[in-house]
Amino acid sequence: MRYHKIPDESIRRLPVYLRALLYFSQAGEKHVSSEKLAEFLHFNSSQIRKDFSYFGYFGTRGVGYDVDKLIRQTRNILKLENQRPTALVGAGNLGKALLAYEGFGIYGFDITAVFDNDPKKIGKKIGNVSIESVKKITDLPKRNISLGIVAVPTGAAQEATDMLVAADVTGILNFAPRHLNVPRKVKVITIDIAMELGRLPYYA
Ligand code: NAI
Repeated sequence: MRYHKIPDESIRRLPVYLRALLYFSQAGEKHVSSEKLAEFLHFNSSQIRKDFSYFGYFGTRGVGYDVDKLIRQTRNILKLENQRPTALVGAGNLGKALLAYEGFGIYGFDITAVFDNDPKKIGKKIGNVSIESVKKITDLPKRNISLGIVAVPTGAAQEATDMLVAADVTGILNFAPRHLNVPRKVKVITIDIAMELGRLPYYA
């Protein structure tokens, strides 16, 4: 099911709610109120109720939300019910750090393919995953991989993106500090830690 007219800001908050709900579930909590979630996340409780109400989820008065049910529903909205095999392009410093990070698991992401164009790296393993030649990106449809991470130098990012798009990848997490040109059907989310740092002193 696809949800329409949901503000992007609400979608952005859903993974944050999911992480909090998983925390409550692990702590053995069966129910959680919007107030408790709000206190935990330093959010506004009416905002939380509004966000869930977009999807038709309303807590029970005096009881709150059923934690495990809401986890399932949130995963369902975000299409995270199944493990998502993901391809990484660029097995450099950042790529290796991403591969070592276990925190993607709670959102169902699993980096199962790594590509690089450095002959010295191709064939080597990082953890359980072997680095493959970028030429193998064409195999992604056969491997049922439709998400990609771009962690190559800025000058190579568009080329890597074009290869992912040609292999029917429809979602790209981009770490290269540049805009990527993609067809409308492809969603790109760019993460730039340096830019975030750049505005930090203003607030500090
Ligand atoms: P790195 O130089 O350590 O690794 C880049 C890797 O990409 C190398 O293994 C290289 O062989 C490979 N590569 C180069 N051209 C390629 C191509 N055409 N196809 C496939 N692989 C190719 O660089 P590092 O430090 O890992 O940074 C990678 C990217 O991530 C850069 O664009 C950098 O600016 C960005 N970055 C972004 C951060 C963020 O906050 N968004 C933080 C750190 C890095």
